[in-house]
Amino acid sequence: MVRPYGIKVNKRKERKERYDKEEDEEEEQPKFEQKQKEKERVKRAKREVTSKAEEEDDEENEIAEEAAADELDVGIPIIVSDDKKDQTGVIFVLEKASLEVAKVGKTYQLLNSDDHANFLRKNGRDPAHYRPDITHQALLMILDSPVNKAGRLKAVYVRTEQGVLFEVKPHVRIPRTYKRFAGIMLQLLQKLSISAAGKREKLMRVIKNPVTGHLPPNCRKIGFSYSSEKLVNMQKHLSTVCNETDTVFVLGAMSHGKIECDYIDDFVAISGYPLSAAYCISRICEALSTNWNII
Ligand SMILES: C[S@@+](CC[C@H](N)C(=O)[O-])C[C@H]1O[C@@H](n2cnc3c(N)ncnc32)[C@H](O)[C@@H]1O
Repeated sequence: MVRPYGIKVNKRKERKERYDKEEDEEEEQPKFEQKQKEKERVKRAKREVTSKAEEEDDEENEIAEEAAADELDVGIPIIVSDDKKDQTGVIFVLEKASLEVAKVGKTYQLLNSDDHANFLRKNGRDPAHYRPDITHQALLMILDSPVNKAGRLKAVYVRTEQGVLFEVKPHVRIPRTYKRFAGIMLQLLQKLSISAAGKREKLMRVIKNPVTGHLPPNCRKIGFSYSSEKLVNMQKHLSTVCNETDTVFVLGAMSHGKIECDYIDDFVAISGYPLSAAYCISRICEALSTNWNII
């Protein structure tokens, strides 16, 4: 009990001493030095005010953006990527994406195994197949990748289990939370396109099948499946492709089964273990980054 009190008193004394010393020193300083100090203090204060104002501006902009996004029920701010049109690039196609809309009660919703298990069972469906989160995670992995930031991602296409094909622009910032992602997907599948907040550019839009009609000519199309007999080291495999022509990577965005696409040139397995689509994408993007020296 006694010790802390004593310490406090000493501290106060110390502080007082130091303060007095500073004052003494200031008194001893020549006048022009004091003026210099005063100028610096004013400058510092001005700088603080400016940075505070900038912070406030940023905050206001963010709030305004969010408000606009909420209004449009969109919420996809765009990021600018370092686009390099003359270089070869990559395209991702997510096949069999589990993205289905249904009227549950009074509202239309994107069906998922967590929220709609009873509804799905009542309608004779297996809830395990309703996994829109797989597409969400896969898209985040693709769009967040340094390959995209370096401008080497040319396009992303998603084909739902029901055969709806849509395009996602590489500069879209997908909502990071599942709930908002579900809202965007619902809107896309109902209205067939999503525009940037306050702009006319379509960031996502439903397009005409087949996907091959949208792929560049002479591109190489690699399909990914755990069940492929061709087990490759992604890093080594990439060094033989990707540098001459654009490459298309086709993965499944479903929980079970294999992608069956007649347009694929080569089916490969990139691990001896079954992986999630998102992990596969991360492995592909890492290999691409090494291949293209993107750090
Ligand atoms: C959840 S998995 C689906 C698993 C499914 N049984 C299969 O092998 O296709 C989603 C996607 O990840 C990819 N994938 C998973 N494990 C893989 C592996 N070891 N090699 C290559 N692709 C893989 C495939 O494209 C697959 O469609």
